[in-house]
Amino acid sequence: MKSYKDYPRQSVSMSKDGLFQATLNDIFSKNKVDYVIETGTWLGTGSTQTLSRAFSKNQPPKAYYTIEGNLTFHTIARVNLLTWSFVKPLWGDTVQKDKALAFIKQDKALHNHEQYPDVFIDTIHDPISFYTNEVEGKLGKNWVISMVDWLGNTFLTRQEDLLKTLLLKHRDDRPLVLLDSAGGIGWLEYQTVRDTLADRPYWLILDDIHHLKHFRSFDDVQNRSDFRIIAHSLPDGWMVAEHLA
Ligand SMILES: C[S@@+](CC[C@H](N)C(=O)[O-])C[C@H]1O[C@@H](n2cnc3c(N)ncnc32)[C@H](O)[C@@H]1O
Repeated sequence: MKSYKDYPRQSVSMSKDGLFQATLNDIFSKNKVDYVIETGTWLGTGSTQTLSRAFSKNQPPKAYYTIEGNLTFHTIARVNLLTWSFVKPLWGDTVQKDKALAFIKQDKALHNHEQYPDVFIDTIHDPISFYTNEVEGKLGKNWVISMVDWLGNTFLTRQEDLLKTLLLKHRDDRPLVLLDSAGGIGWLEYQTVRDTLADRPYWLILDDIHHLKHFRSFDDVQNRSDFRIIAHSLPDGWMVAEHLA
């Protein structure tokens, strides 16, 4: 794989390009989408605001859940998202931490990333340690993040497996699922969605389809007859699809 740091269009946040916004506007104007389940809020200023703005004011969703594991980012996002009362930011892990760590340990594509020269990866220097540290919340620490982490771990209850919990709750509501959390567990999150929602209808948005995060998820969607890809952009790294019942 090749380093994402060298990609001129690299960004933590999801693209806000015109085709992505037009695709969302089209879906929300023609369909009633009541529930959104998003992994990876970050500061709330990227995908969460782009989707929230794309909903018609007359037809907002009943709930837009967005999951963030970093308590500092989650807290900032809560402020950034106050305008949209339907957005419910949740603090916790999208999947069980043990399962995520075990997944990274055995991921053949990560261990043999040289076999995928066209796919981006966050670092080519010991990526297994990098993605393990990411799942353990050890990346990008500073004293504020460390202190907030300590407060959260001491006084609050951190939930795990939030993605599956929400999918089970809303599996019959034709939810829109947007996956954009850690680079090392995108394929695990995608399989969680695909296997939990099985043959039910739902909308699916992936970010980073040109990256370790979702290159296999995108490939799987392309090769299955029960998905219809509505639009995608390889340069901007996103895909919007519909899962047919
Ligand atoms: C690429 S950023 C999300 C960007 C956001 N969607 C946007 O468009 O601005 C990924 C976020 O997922 C969070 N994250 C990573 N792994 C997670 C996990 N297992 N559970 C919850 N959040 C996680 C990271 O802390 C980071 O803020």
